[in-house]
Amino acid sequence: MITIKSQREIDLMKKAGMLVSLMHKYIKPFIKEGITTKELDRLCEDFIIDNGGVPTCKGYEGYPAALCTSVNDRVVHGIPDNTKLKNGDIITIDVVIGYNGYQGDAAWTYAVGDIDDDKKYLMEHTEKALYVGVEQVKPGKRIGDISAAVQKYAEDHNLGVVRELCGHGIGQEMHEDPEVPNFGIPNTGARLKPGMVICIEPMLTFGDRHVNLLDDEWTVVTRDGSPAAHYEHTILVTDDGYEILTPRLDD
Ligand code: MF3
Ligand code: CO
Repeated sequence: MITIKSQREIDLMKKAGMLVSLMHKYIKPFIKEGITTKELDRLCEDFIIDNGGVPTCKGYEGYPAALCTSVNDRVVHGIPDNTKLKNGDIITIDVVIGYNGYQGDAAWTYAVGDIDDDKKYLMEHTEKALYVGVEQVKPGKRIGDISAAVQKYAEDHNLGVVRELCGHGIGQEMHEDPEVPNFGIPNTGARLKPGMVICIEPMLTFGDRHVNLLDDEWTVVTRDGSPAAHYEHTILVTDDGYEILTPRLDD
């Protein structure tokens, strides 16, 4: 069931989204060679709690951390550990924060020091693919319009579209209906209405689109070892378009 949020709920979701944005801004300066993903997770969990939020991922289906930290060929759901970041890595930080019972969800990929041109290209065009999807959002448009726009942009730029995971509705739960795939057919799927809130989140690879699940049962990696990037926003459908509830404050 796709929920339509009331004005009161929308106001709470804006607060949850803002806390997600503030956390990303907070953590960005720490993303440097030598820090471990566990240290990043600890800093973010403290930041979330100090600001009255709930780190929703922690304990979700047994997930052990506040953040997903996915480095290089890790696509999503990388579990924070004692691995130190190295110059030239890319890392996606994905977080869901609850605030007064409502959730905000956003992921960005960050560069560690100097990265090569392939990774720069991957990051730039994965973020653009997200905004191409977001631009589709307005009442009367359908989920398939978002999916098809993201897929076309990604494939036109020779990036692999991971199909095993997708975006989603969001509200009191981090995952609500509808699913928002990153591939699809225009003019199909649920129709967007004002008050819906969805997460659009292209996960793109520099090489082949196929992925494997590691033995930890969480970490999704590219099969060919190529790097992956992931950008996600929480988006409100407004009367005449959209509002990004997780605006980037970090650049
Ligand atoms: N942002 C992720 C998503 O959209 C959060 C899930 S991570 C989990 O699915 F660990 F909580 F599962
Ligand atoms: Co999400």
